[in-house]
Amino acid sequence: MPSPTRYDAVAMSLHWLMALVIIGLWSLGLILEELPKGDFRNEMKALHASIGALVLGLTVLRLGWRLTKPVPELPQAMVGLERLMAGAAHVGLYVLMVALPLSGIAIVETGGRALTVFGFQVLPALMAKDEGLHDLAEDGHGLLAWILAAIVIGHVLAALRHHVLLKDDVLTRMLPGGK
Ligand code: HEM
Ligand code: HEM
Repeated sequence: MPSPTRYDAVAMSLHWLMALVIIGLWSLGLILEELPKGDFRNEMKALHASIGALVLGLTVLRLGWRLTKPVPELPQAMVGLERLMAGAAHVGLYVLMVALPLSGIAIVETGGRALTVFGFQVLPALMAKDEGLHDLAEDGHGLLAWILAAIVIGHVLAALRHHVLLKDDVLTRMLPGGK
């Protein structure tokens, strides 16, 4: 099968919807840290956890789509190192889209709590609170979130470099209506 020249509507919709949601979650995560303890903070934590769990579900769908549909090839002009960096960044982003929600779920479970998504319990409390593991999960989640931020910044700069400096179709083929 010849490879397509653009991403399809499903891949594009998932990419942009998830980009918005993940950037929002990232910001909410940082805001959470600053909120005074109380009901509002707990509600925002529950919202962050629910949307984060949704990201895990969307990532599974997205990986299923990604692994079964052909994607556009990188421009011929890209050299080996550029191809390697693009591939490594994309794999890294997929790994983080799984690892961040899982480490978030670990924060909840090591805190001795059940996981609820928009008010529905999806996982019971699996253990009593363990301070050491809970701190580890929080530190791990924070570290992964910063690694994600670094890769996303590189990813956006690379997309802009393709569009503005190299003037190829790498950005437009991920944009609805682009040629
Ligand atoms: C793509 C998904 C996610 C992203 C990008 C994300 C991002 C973040 C960020 C940036 C922070 C602040 C971290 C810090 O500086 O210490 C944070 C905190 C937190 N996240 Fe997430 N998160 C995600 C998913 C989840 C999920 C699924 C859960 C729970 C089920 C969760 C639970 C928490 C909790 C409880 C905190 C506060 C931790 C603390 O009080 O130190 N996150 N998140
Ligand atoms: C949290 C934010 C984001 C995440 C997690 C993310 C993730 C990804 C992933 C995993 C791919 C690989 C798609 C594939 O499987 O082939 C991809 C492709 C792409 N992304 Fe993002 N992205 C984000 C934000 C952005 C933003 C803000 C831009 C635009 C400036 C952008 C532009 C692109 C482009 C142009 C491609 C296609 C690359 C190619 O054709 O090889 N992304 N993105």
